[in-house]
Amino acid sequence: MATSPVVKLLLVLIALFGAACTNVQCFYFNFPDFQDEDRKDLDLSENSTIFRDAMQVTPDLNGDITNTPGRAYYGKKFRLWSKKKGIASFNSTFVINISNKDSPEVGEGLAFVLTADKSVPGNSYGQWLGMVNASTNGTSQARIVGVEFDTRKSYEEDLDDNHVGLDINSCYSILQESLSSYNINLSVGVDVRVVVQYDGKNLTVFISKGNETVNATSPAFSVPLDLSAYLPESVYVGFSASTGNFTQLNCVRAWEFQGLDVDEDSNLLWVWIAVPVISLALISGLAFYMYWSGRFKKDDLEGAYPNIEDHIKSSTAPRRFRLKELKRATGNFNHKNKLGKGGFGTVYKGIWKEKEVAVKRVSKKSNQGSQEFIAEVTTIGNLNHKNLVKLIGWCYENRELLLVYEYMPNGSLDKFIFYDEKAGIEESNQPTLSWETRLIIIKGVAEALDYLHNGCEKRVLHRDIKSSNIMLDSEFNARLGDFGLARTIQQREKTHHSTIEIAGTPGYMAPETFLISRATVETDVYSYGVLLLEVVCGRKPGNQSELNNYNNSIVNWLWEFYRRGRITDAVDSKLDGDFVDKEVESALILGLACCHPNPHYRPSMRTVLAVLTGEADPPQVPHERPSFVWPAMPPVFSQSDYSLTGSQFSTISDLSGR
Ligand SMILES: *[C@@H]1O[C@H](CO)[C@@H](O)[C@H](O)[C@H]1NC(C)=O
Ligand SMILES: *[C@@H]1O[C@H](CO)[C@@H](O)[C@H](O)[C@H]1NC(C)=O
Ligand SMILES: *[C@@H]1O[C@H](CO)[C@@H](O)[C@H](O)[C@H]1NC(C)=O
Ligand SMILES: *[C@@H]1O[C@H](CO)[C@@H](O)[C@H](O)[C@H]1NC(C)=O
Ligand SMILES: *[C@@H]1O[C@H](CO)[C@@H](O)[C@H](O)[C@H]1NC(C)=O
Ligand SMILES: *[C@@H]1O[C@H](CO)[C@@H](O)[C@H](O)[C@H]1NC(C)=O
Ligand SMILES: *[C@@H]1O[C@H](CO)[C@@H](O)[C@H](O)[C@H]1NC(C)=O
Ligand SMILES: *[C@@H]1O[C@H](CO)[C@@H](O)[C@H](O)[C@H]1NC(C)=O
Ligand SMILES: *[C@@H]1O[C@H](CO)[C@@H](O)[C@H](O)[C@H]1NC(C)=O
Ligand SMILES: *[C@@H]1O[C@H](CO)[C@@H](O)[C@H](O)[C@H]1NC(C)=O
Repeated sequence: MATSPVVKLLLVLIALFGAACTNVQCFYFNFPDFQDEDRKDLDLSENSTIFRDAMQVTPDLNGDITNTPGRAYYGKKFRLWSKKKGIASFNSTFVINISNKDSPEVGEGLAFVLTADKSVPGNSYGQWLGMVNASTNGTSQARIVGVEFDTRKSYEEDLDDNHVGLDINSCYSILQESLSSYNINLSVGVDVRVVVQYDGKNLTVFISKGNETVNATSPAFSVPLDLSAYLPESVYVGFSASTGNFTQLNCVRAWEFQGLDVDEDSNLLWVWIAVPVISLALISGLAFYMYWSGRFKKDDLEGAYPNIEDHIKSSTAPRRFRLKELKRATGNFNHKNKLGKGGFGTVYKGIWKEKEVAVKRVSKKSNQGSQEFIAEVTTIGNLNHKNLVKLIGWCYENRELLLVYEYMPNGSLDKFIFYDEKAGIEESNQPTLSWETRLIIIKGVAEALDYLHNGCEKRVLHRDIKSSNIMLDSEFNARLGDFGLARTIQQREKTHHSTIEIAGTPGYMAPETFLISRATVETDVYSYGVLLLEVVCGRKPGNQSELNNYNNSIVNWLWEFYRRGRITDAVDSKLDGDFVDKEVESALILGLACCHPNPHYRPSMRTVLAVLTGEADPPQVPHERPSFVWPAMPPVFSQSDYSLTGSQFSTISDLSGR
């Protein structure tokens, strides 16, 4: 791009000004759950980790966890006070879950802490909660303040084995409140929601059960507290926990923190005055210069692609948004509007023209292929089907890539099928989907895929079919999202280390994917098969820890039921037998057919639809799972199902939107 040096200078200035602005904003973060990619924002001590969507301060992954301390912090320090500005205020909400597994007695406890020093003190296990040890207990050298959740009465003064308390430079609570009156037993593996509020003068703690909101008029305790008397100006915020002679899992499942930073010192004042003045002077100077040199091109400033925009004239085409419009719509990508993460970026809820929209912010890594990307997005945006999530618009500005979709009030399908294992805090109350609804969902996805494969002008491969990419509209109709994007975005994010282009999610990928390194119609059908089985069985596609292991997949698991002639036993037990046997059996066999190890034997989406609507019988599937052989041979006799569409094993495939 022919960005002139002056424009670059201008951008630098604008960025500088922007940085000055964010400095005075508040200190905020929100983890609705914890994923591996959150590690970069966190600071976990040796014995703490992220597992099962939670921050496990004392996990049991490495075996025995008796007498172990652990700490987990947010990675950046919070400016708690300054001589000039006084004491900051903050609010933090978190959900903890403590369980003693099969240990005969409970371990020690967990504490929310503010501390100067992030290292774990030596010998701080047991009653010390990882906060202090025998030599630092009760001394100002400890420099730690905590709200403890104690699950063991470890000494005389401890109220009971189920209380919340306030600890200052010690693990001895200066104030305690039993949780039994809240009908909560901390150590039995239930979610407990905690809100800690500090207004600079008083510290207030609220408690409720995980699925209930706290009663704002009745705190567990509220005490006048001057944190600056015990802590340095900048502190780490996080959690400390320990086990004693008995083990206990101390987990934090969600955590939000909002602090009003006192960081804007007067030395920033010059930025507020100088930057606008200098910018203004420079901008006028530049404008003048550009005007005279005839180089003032609007496109230079916007990084626009005029040739592409010429192509997009039709009224159904997705709209091109300005970054500032989307910032306004989403409250400047406020964490509070975050709908979720995954599928190449973070999704925010936004309000645009009084309509709810979902804005996906694709992680910005490179500038390459942007032209191709935009072309592809517009092609995809022209696709229209009742079972596709409509792409309303896009934005490519400032090296930011954003996609604007219809808002789906019921969120993604995965939250409904796995609510048992994956019970996020707000997901735990999801109703069980009835068999009828499930059938409508798998039919809807099949229709969408049939449209992408056979119904639209250019064949589009989805490449990443999985339950988290299926959205549910207000009537629980399935809407396929993120179609056609996997390839382009994957390429954009390609590093030097991975040159093979494999898009997809482990557990949903056909066995041949790793050999042909390419998506085909048949690999899409395979992923669809896995999704179908998932929906009917209410089960994850693979063993979480070894998702790549084909032998451990849902396909293999179900084939075993089929071999024993008891395929309907595999249906989700939450359905309580409330389904039509014939329909379930036909759907499950169809799912197996889609997941046939030999891609030539997988049915087309057209055939899948015919089976789901009852117009055709499911394809015949061998009772013994055929082993995976490569290269795969086409069927010798063109029998039964496969003749419906002829062999569709395709290599022609890709959507190319140029
Ligand atoms: C982590 O746990 C192991 C085993 O309990 C213990 O030996 C080690 O000291 C712990 N590490 C820290 C930093 O406390
Ligand atoms: C904390 O919450 C209280 C009550 O909702 C609110 O008044 C206060 O402004 C919040 N403080 C911060 C720093 O967000
Ligand atoms: C207690 O912790 C302090 C500070 O972390 C450390 O210097 C000291 O060695 C520890 N004492 C014991 C007995 O481990
Ligand atoms: C720890 O410190 C507290 C004072 O904060 C004191 O009451 C308590 O006795 C100390 N415990 C031990 C075992 O030294
Ligand atoms: C909480 O549950 C634990 C383990 O089941 C039990 O030992 C303890 O007595 C219970 N505490 C209260 C206060 O109910
Ligand atoms: C709390 O953790 C325990 C042990 O990890 C788990 O069995 C339980 O399901 C969790 N509670 C909730 C509500 O998820
Ligand atoms: C702090 O709490 C005390 C009662 O514990 C109350 O009297 C006082 O008004 C509170 N102060 C502030 C600033 O909220
Ligand atoms: C929270 O969960 C408990 C136990 O599962 C249940 O009894 C209670 O009704 C739930 N509360 C709400 C508000 O859903
Ligand atoms: C909140 O607590 C107050 C005081 O204890 C009580 O009167 C009120 O009923 C509680 N509200 C709810 C919704 O439980
Ligand atoms: C833990 O076990 C050790 C060794 O058996 C014992 O000396 C110690 O008193 C126990 N600690 C507690 C808190 O029970």
